Amino acid sequence: MTTEFVSKENLTDDVLRRAGEIIRRGGLIVFPTETVYGLGADALDAEAAKKIYAAKGRPSDNPLIVHVASPADAEKYAEVNDTFMRLAKAFMPGPLTVILPKKDCIPTTVTGGLDSVGIRCPEHPVARKFIAAAGVPIAAPSANLSGKPSPTRAEHIRRDLDGKVDMILDGGACRVGLESTIVKVEKGHLTLLRPGGVTLEMLRALFDDVSVAEAVTDKLPEGARPLSPGMQYRHYAPDAPLYLIGGSDEKRRAYFSAADSDTVLLVFDEEKDLFPTHRVILIGSERDPEAQAKRLFAALLEANASGAKKLLAPLPEKRGLSLALYNRMIRAAAHNIITL
Ligand code: TXA
Ligand code: MG
Repeated sequence: MTTEFVSKENLTDDVLRRAGEIIRRGGLIVFPTETVYGLGADALDAEAAKKIYAAKGRPSDNPLIVHVASPADAEKYAEVNDTFMRLAKAFMPGPLTVILPKKDCIPTTVTGGLDSVGIRCPEHPVARKFIAAAGVPIAAPSANLSGKPSPTRAEHIRRDLDGKVDMILDGGACRVGLESTIVKVEKGHLTLLRPGGVTLEMLRALFDDVSVAEAVTDKLPEGARPLSPGMQYRHYAPDAPLYLIGGSDEKRRAYFSAADSDTVLLVFDEEKDLFPTHRVILIGSERDPEAQAKRLFAALLEANASGAKKLLAPLPEKRGLSLALYNRMIRAAAHNIITL
């Protein structure tokens, strides 16, 4: 298949109309969202959804998120409730996915065999116009090969999906840079399954009853099944082993300095000149978790391309947006944490 690449300057309404037609014919379109790029197909078409799993090499029991142009569309595809309404009012459009009981029109191919479905209304203007132009909900995982970091810029996608999708829409760099927050709603109770741009603190400011799934911060016991199937897979991992170093900045910097010279260091922007004998990759300012989130996946891709024998990075904190960084980094590091 030849993949049509549409640059940001050429993203006209006409192109979006054509992308919508491709979706209705069962095709695959990569589109930008404010979190990461998505690999989209018609969520009502089981055959189209199968093409997503094939293009990504994704296990068929890992469900896809269903994207809608407006939160009001959710009730067509899922059993919505008051809790969903409150979440939608506060955070949609935006980086939040809500897991609800699914309606029959959503094929189980899309939900990995589950009877629930993740509903998300992205905020990116291109995403919203594209979904509206398609006239159907869009099933979309992140637009990377299974196990690789999620793409936050169009050039990341070409390497993974060129020749496997009909069209790639370039919307520039993604604003958040980490995948959406996922919450499951059951009997008015919220469980955080994946932290993201909508933080745990933001959820707790609105709801008394929010728990955090164990897999968010901890390694599950062998054989345990996480509430979110995607959490069981090795994810984002570079080829070289990555170690996360916790403890004071002073101790961590000393540890970094003492590393073998073929170890590559992921360091805060402020630390750029502190390790003259090592190759460093910048991960954003120490005081700016938003910049770190935006940069994380590109930094992991750069780390992988560096040919390092070993990688060291600071262990993120477990609060605010940093909880999302923590959650992605422990997966990339296969839970290798060294606390000094
Ligand atoms: O920001 C995002 O959410 C991006 C953009 C493209 O919207 N999408 C994304 O999709 O990250 P994906 O497929 O890479 O991650 C979806 C996660 C997986 O871990 C999956 O297991 C979980 O959502 N998930 C989807 N539906 C679920 C369901 N019904 N129950 C539990 N977990 C579900
Ligand atoms: Mg993904």
